[in-house]
Amino acid sequence: MYRTHDCGALRAEHIGDRVKVAGWVRFSRDHGGVLFFDLADSYGSTQLVFDPDAMTDGADVEALAKTLNSFGRESVIAVSGFVRERVQGTADPRNPTGQVEVLIENAILLNTSKPMPFEVADQKNSLLPGEDLRLRYRYLDLRRAQMIQNLRFRHSFIASARRFFDDEGFVEVETPLLTRSTPEGARDFIVPSRTMPGRFYALPQSPQLYKQMLMIGGIDKYYQIARCFRDEDSRADRQPEFTQIDLEMSFVDEKEVQATVERLLAHVWKTIYGTKLQIPFTRVPFQEAIAKYGTDAPDVRFGLEIVNVTSAVASASYDVFKKIIGKGGIVLCINLKSSLLSSSPSDSSSLGRKEVDRLIEWAKGEGMSGLTWMRLSQEGLSSNIVKYFPLEVRDALVKMMGAELGDLLLFIGGPKIQATKAAGALRVKLAKDLGLVNGKGHGFVWVVDCPLVTKDAVSGRLEPFHHPFVMPSKGRVGADEDPASIGGLSYDLVLDGFEIGSGSIRIHDPELQREVFGMLGMTDGEIERKFGFFLEALGYGAPPHGGIALGVDRLVSILLGCDSIREVIAFPKNKRFQSLLDDSPAEVEESKLSELQLLSLAEGEDEAKAKKKRR
Ligand code: AMO
Repeated sequence: MYRTHDCGALRAEHIGDRVKVAGWVRFSRDHGGVLFFDLADSYGSTQLVFDPDAMTDGADVEALAKTLNSFGRESVIAVSGFVRERVQGTADPRNPTGQVEVLIENAILLNTSKPMPFEVADQKNSLLPGEDLRLRYRYLDLRRAQMIQNLRFRHSFIASARRFFDDEGFVEVETPLLTRSTPEGARDFIVPSRTMPGRFYALPQSPQLYKQMLMIGGIDKYYQIARCFRDEDSRADRQPEFTQIDLEMSFVDEKEVQATVERLLAHVWKTIYGTKLQIPFTRVPFQEAIAKYGTDAPDVRFGLEIVNVTSAVASASYDVFKKIIGKGGIVLCINLKSSLLSSSPSDSSSLGRKEVDRLIEWAKGEGMSGLTWMRLSQEGLSSNIVKYFPLEVRDALVKMMGAELGDLLLFIGGPKIQATKAAGALRVKLAKDLGLVNGKGHGFVWVVDCPLVTKDAVSGRLEPFHHPFVMPSKGRVGADEDPASIGGLSYDLVLDGFEIGSGSIRIHDPELQREVFGMLGMTDGEIERKFGFFLEALGYGAPPHGGIALGVDRLVSILLGCDSIREVIAFPKNKRFQSLLDDSPAEVEESKLSELQLLSLAEGEDEAKAKKKRR
């Protein structure tokens, strides 16, 4: 037996016990022949001490000292000895094992370690090595207490979710990874088939179609901790492979799906935090979210709501606004209330000129022409441009914005989409800079009544807002209706300003599904080729159904306050979607390519291109 206790287990109650511990030598020091070691594993660290004077008679002190002196940093050792109280004044109150130490009687070296590329011992984030180095040696990075804590938290989250689903009668089903393309708006990762040259599987962007077919198969409550694959642009909250808590239910409406997710999260909250999560969550219609918060993923933990003041300022002679409005743009306003400022940790009762200038610079960096401000003082609204605003306009602004003495009105004007986005970003920036969310906990919100489709700004093509399987809110798509005005029975779950989940009630009528594909510009042939199998399945008595998927990596990283989802994934890809650990994606030998007939395909393509050129 290597160990009787892990390195985080020993306490005062073990004093006098003979124990065995094993782990990695994190530190060692020699105090005049008395040797100290910090022995660590993923549970904690325990102080070991070799004290020649305390050894029992007959023990081979010299041999033991020699063995101990051979232990290098991060070598793996096993030790047996007695637990004793640490000498007075040397207890470490920050370490749960800090009251005791193990007096070494025997020790063996189980494995050595090469010199470490970076320090593993608990360190401040500012001292961390660069991320690429951490990812290159991720197995060493995982020894850091922070990473261990992140992975354990992730585990507890998922374990608690599984218990919830089990209690509620859900069945976990593994859907295939070698599939046909599932459209979720990203590029596919494709896998060539050896047995059918020229054909390819796609790794699933989500289990969407399979979970819907499970409903047709009568599994009416499905869940899966599902791995998804998407080839899309890198971001701090995106990975090419990531995990969803995916669920689907039959004979439910959108409120029942949402209530299930609320119960799920309340259960997880109770398990991991021991506290009651406030449910149901607030629901905000999509259009309202855009108008009030400038985004469809709003952080609702602080006010700073956006107000469209275009009509109020239209009659002002302020040139900047006149030009913007003349070109069809809008002017948006946020009231930075003085009460918010005085209760913020910055403890200033007002934002000074310097800070406002910095905000103006920031707005320029966001692609806006700038930012305009007015402050409500005893004399009314004041600023360097207030003279361009007639008194009645100023009064209207004060009223619309609910401004009180000391409040600062911040205006952003520009083309509708840019101004909305910038105002949304301004809210978030103000909240962050002024510490408005500190100590506020987390804020879940459902964004509901999303559109069914959106128009691509460049190509003008209609694209699904979520995916093409969302039920139109009226249960049909009228041929005479403007597609952009059709709503979908979909809902997004947003946490602290990040979309962490998305779901919908699905189309279960094959004809309606065909119509929606058609509306999205697919030809009959294309529909048949890509989704014929699915339309056929819907034709065999598909029940009404709906579901949702929660992004586990995003959810967990927000709860842990991480900057990137890479911090909660054991082996993530870097920003270029490379795995630095095994150097993938890697080249493949030609023999493998030719076995898959990929070389001949590529050659065929080259030939075809050359032929075209010759013509
Ligand atoms: P959607 O595409 O919105 O919906 O994905 C659901 C959730 O998955 C997470 N997510 C990601 N996390 C990390 N890296 C990525 N690249 C990534 N892409 C998405 C997000 C997102 O909210 N099949 C539908 C769900 C349904 O309709 O039931 C789907 O996949 O947190």
